[in-house]
Amino acid sequence: LVLILDYGSQYTHLITRRIRSLSVLSLCISGTCSLEDITSKNPRVVILSGGPHSVHAPNAPSFPAGFLEWAQSNGVYVLGVCYGLQLMVQKLGGEVRIGEKQEYGRMEIVVGGNLGIFGNKKAGHRQVVWMSHGDEAAALPDGFEVVARSQQGAVAAVENRERRLFGLQYHPEVTHSPEGMETLKYFLFDVCGVTAGWKMENVLDEEIKCIKDTVGPEDHVICALSGGVDSTVAATLVHKAIGDRLHCVFVDNGLLRYKERERVMDTFQKDLHLPVTCVDAIEQFLSKLKGVVDPEVKRKIIGKEFICIFDAFAHDLEQKLGKKPAYLVQGTLYPDVIESCPPPGSGRTHSHTIKSHHNVGGLPKDMKLKLIEPLKLLFKDEVRQLGRILNVPEQFLKRHPFPGPGLAVRVLGDVTEGNALDILRQVDEIFIQSIKDAGLYDLIWQAFAVFLPVRSVGVQGDQRTHSHVVALRAVTSQDGMTADWYYFEHKFLDDVARKICNNVRGVNRVVQDITSKPPSTIEWE
Ligand code: XMP
Repeated sequence: LVLILDYGSQYTHLITRRIRSLSVLSLCISGTCSLEDITSKNPRVVILSGGPHSVHAPNAPSFPAGFLEWAQSNGVYVLGVCYGLQLMVQKLGGEVRIGEKQEYGRMEIVVGGNLGIFGNKKAGHRQVVWMSHGDEAAALPDGFEVVARSQQGAVAAVENRERRLFGLQYHPEVTHSPEGMETLKYFLFDVCGVTAGWKMENVLDEEIKCIKDTVGPEDHVICALSGGVDSTVAATLVHKAIGDRLHCVFVDNGLLRYKERERVMDTFQKDLHLPVTCVDAIEQFLSKLKGVVDPEVKRKIIGKEFICIFDAFAHDLEQKLGKKPAYLVQGTLYPDVIESCPPPGSGRTHSHTIKSHHNVGGLPKDMKLKLIEPLKLLFKDEVRQLGRILNVPEQFLKRHPFPGPGLAVRVLGDVTEGNALDILRQVDEIFIQSIKDAGLYDLIWQAFAVFLPVRSVGVQGDQRTHSHVVALRAVTSQDGMTADWYYFEHKFLDDVARKICNNVRGVNRVVQDITSKPPSTIEWE
């Protein structure tokens, strides 16, 4: 195990992922955790991440007292990156001061002789790296030597091989350091003697064993399937471990996309053989949403209805089985549980957040269910890899995200007004199918249509019309937090707009949303 102590660098998760891509399990915890938090994980290597702080700042975050001594007496290797290097140097009695020249961006470094971390390079080797720091190590603690310098002569890498302590002033994990991965790989495998073996197949076996050990032979487990990748992969995994003692529910709330219910139920039942009950709650949701135009009120109503339905499902099951279900499966991912080290003054505290299920919004009130979160150590792309091993169909794994409140946040205003939902479903289907036909689906984070509660004048077949306007939205994004609008060729847009007006009754105008996030959000409500 490689443990990463996070000091708030924007690249910390990238190091975690890079190391996992070498088939080595790496976990990331807050850089200000307790010694017990570190020792209990029994890591072979600990990496101290970069961060926005200066080691001289009041409350500069640091590893717990006794950490370096524990590492030394247990043969654990420590690598400090950027702030991590400076922290180590300062704690061991060296000197860190504000650099004469701040070093940001691409930079050449020269590797010296007699090397550990650069043992696969010749002395004098030059490489381009990505620097991002203001402070620098001015005097090294006893036993340390400089093994690379920047062109300006500043310290770029240090080590104390005898104590197994290493430091890089630059970021090896970013692609702007082209030899960075090679250095990390050499460090982990050749210097630290880490062995690769963390594969998705092993994760699958371990998770199945863990679920079997946790869930008693008589226990039953419930799961709400949203039609999204995470809950589907989580349920499929649990089903593999305990078979039909898993009970899934999928809710048709009347706010689903075109043929969504049929399509996802087909995948659940025919491809994945999941024991799933489909609850038709269209009336229940739409009657509660009638006349509601405030987006937040819509969301609250939908969240509450989901809990009611899930509650009823769990109680029906209890009647049928003669005992309460004991566990609830959630598709929580690693980014939701990572404890990170917030910058001082940010007002954020270290917290372990458990995502309430998007489509359920909370747990049944009196069920006292224990959680099973089989994906909680995985990133999204790793969940997709696991899904592939579990035979979840590829087109399902690559689906764009879809919000829990569904089309309710894409029909602006009252969702029950006229046939807004039906119109939106048809428009959305034409748009998405055209994107797929053009081979663009996988290049786009999310694409969808929005129904606007306005009418405009048009002329169709020599007749004046007064019909609806729909908007098309397509964005690229890494994580949904920020987004850019996707640039379609004019010909593509022309074809889609024509197809929509020719095929969807009640629509005579198509517009495109060309705002990024921020200032907009991805959804319209
Ligand atoms: P916004 O609109 O906030 O959306 O820029 C960011 C991402 O989150 C999705 N989204 C939701 N997902 N329940 C969900 O499960 C919700 O209430 C919800 N609201 C927005 C949105 O589709 C986008 O991917």
